[in-house]
Amino acid sequence: MLVVLKQDAREVGQEAARIVSAAVRAKPSVVLGLATGSTPLGMYEELVSLHKKASLDFSKATSFNLDEYVGLGPDNPQSFHHFMQSNFFSHVNFSKDRIHIPSGDLRTNYSEYCLSYEDEIKKAGGIDLQILGIGRNGHIGFNEPNSSLASRTRLKELTLETVEDNRRFLPKGEEIPECAITMGIGTILDARRILILATGKSKAAAVAKAIEGPISSSVSASALQLHPDVTFIIDEDAAYALTQRDYYRRVLELTKKYTPEKLA
Ligand code: GLP
Repeated sequence: MLVVLKQDAREVGQEAARIVSAAVRAKPSVVLGLATGSTPLGMYEELVSLHKKASLDFSKATSFNLDEYVGLGPDNPQSFHHFMQSNFFSHVNFSKDRIHIPSGDLRTNYSEYCLSYEDEIKKAGGIDLQILGIGRNGHIGFNEPNSSLASRTRLKELTLETVEDNRRFLPKGEEIPECAITMGIGTILDARRILILATGKSKAAAVAKAIEGPISSSVSASALQLHPDVTFIIDEDAAYALTQRDYYRRVLELTKKYTPEKLA
C-alpha cells in the first residue's frame, strides 16, 4: 500500500484529482468507481476545473457509484444521485448512459437488482480506478462493520453511528434511511486500482486500523490490505494515529526515485 501524506484537505483533493485525470487521459474509456461524502468534494471540484480549463474529457468514460440510500429517489436533495449530479456530473461532459448509481427505489427483490448492478460492472469490463472515502467506523461504501470481506453489491442495514453521522445532511425532522444499496467489499477489491481519501481528526482511528491494524471484518477498510494497488491519500489530521508516518514518507521518496510509474 502507498500512503501519501498531505498537509490538508485541499491538497488531498488535488492529489486525488491529479491521479484520476491522469487515468482519464491515459485511457479515455476508463471505468471509474465513484464515492460520495464530504471528503471527495475537493477532488470533484478540481476535476470540474480541469474539465473547464484543461479540456479534461469524460465523454468516453463510464462510472459506477458505490452506494445509495434505500427510500430516497434520485430527485431527493439528500440522495447520492443528487449529490453526484450537483457536485460533478452536471459540470462535466459525462455521457448520461454511462453513469451508473445504485437505485434507492423501494422494491421487493433487492437481490435481483443488486445482481444486475454487478452484471453492469462486468459488462463494462470491470472498474479501473475506484475512489473511496472512509466512515468513522472504518466502513467503505456502506459496508458496515462485520460485512463479509467477500461481500458483493447488496442491501445493507446501516449502523446507528452512520445514521447519526449522516443526519447533518438531512433536513431537521426528516426520516433518515435505515438501509442502503452498496457495492460489497469483494466488488471493491475487484477494481484494478483503489484510491482511498481521508481528512480530519475524526477519521484518524479508522485510518490507523485500516492501514496498520489486522485485517478484520470489524473494520471494512482493512480488507484493502489484500489489494495489490491501493493508495491512501490522507491529510495530517487523519494520519495522526499512524505509527509509521516517517517510513511512509520514505517509501514515497524512494518510489519517486525507483518506480515513479506507480505514482502516475
Ligand atoms: C458515507 C458513504 C461513504 C463515505 C462516508 C464518509 O457513509 N457511504 O462512501 O466514505 O460516508 O463520509 P464523509 O466523507 O462525509 O466523512
